[in-house]
Amino acid sequence: MIARVNNVTITTILIILNFIILVHGASKVPCYFIFGDSLLDNGNNNNLNTEAKANYPPYGIDFPNGPTGRFTNGRNMADILGHFLFLIFRLIYFDSWELLGFDDYIPPFASAIGREILQGVNYASGSAGIRNETGSHLGNRIFLDLQLQNHHNTILRMVDLVGNRVATNAHLNTCLYIVGIGSNDYINNYLVPKRYSTNSLYTPSQYATLLVQQYAQQLKVQH
Ligand SMILES: *[C@@H]1O[C@H](CO)[C@@H](O)[C@H](O)[C@H]1NC(C)=O
Repeated sequence: MIARVNNVTITTILIILNFIILVHGASKVPCYFIFGDSLLDNGNNNNLNTEAKANYPPYGIDFPNGPTGRFTNGRNMADILGHFLFLIFRLIYFDSWELLGFDDYIPPFASAIGREILQGVNYASGSAGIRNETGSHLGNRIFLDLQLQNHHNTILRMVDLVGNRVATNAHLNTCLYIVGIGSNDYINNYLVPKRYSTNSLYTPSQYATLLVQQYAQQLKVQH
């Protein structure tokens, strides 16, 4: 069991290392964009009118700054992956690292300001789904289509900072993107037939196909 866990960890590190080597020379700024639901959210729901919030104890009891809106006691998956990414980047570019002044936490879209967006933005929102209506009985949320719109706005802001679209695209081409979404389309939609009609409209297999089709479309928009 321990060996298996180690293997998974080593594989993850190798994949990230491979990624860094591929982008080596293209850009000296590491960047990382995150889309998804509560598993990856780092504070985007804090000021939304929703029950899907985690900016109060005991959330964050093991996080350096206490509760942040992460749905966990400490760091979430996006933080852990980002930590490896930036650690490896620091090993490669240790000389320029201090000058860049970046740290390994990606700001939530809700509070990202100025040049920090060049390093990446986290758009994830608790209770959000692939489908717009998913999670609506809990309150407001930034569903995937809105997260993509927010990313589009970020890109426009980056063009302003960088100076032109070509350089912005070159920078974006070196960034790591992760998306973790879809479980709310079941637990806060299909499996709540009192609140959502999907259960009566689609068989489980039809619904799965529908989700995959919409998700594929959304990933293309992002691309
Ligand atoms: C979902 O929301 C997006 C963004 O507001 C909108 O463009 C799209 O038409 C909506 N999709 C559906 C199926 O209502």
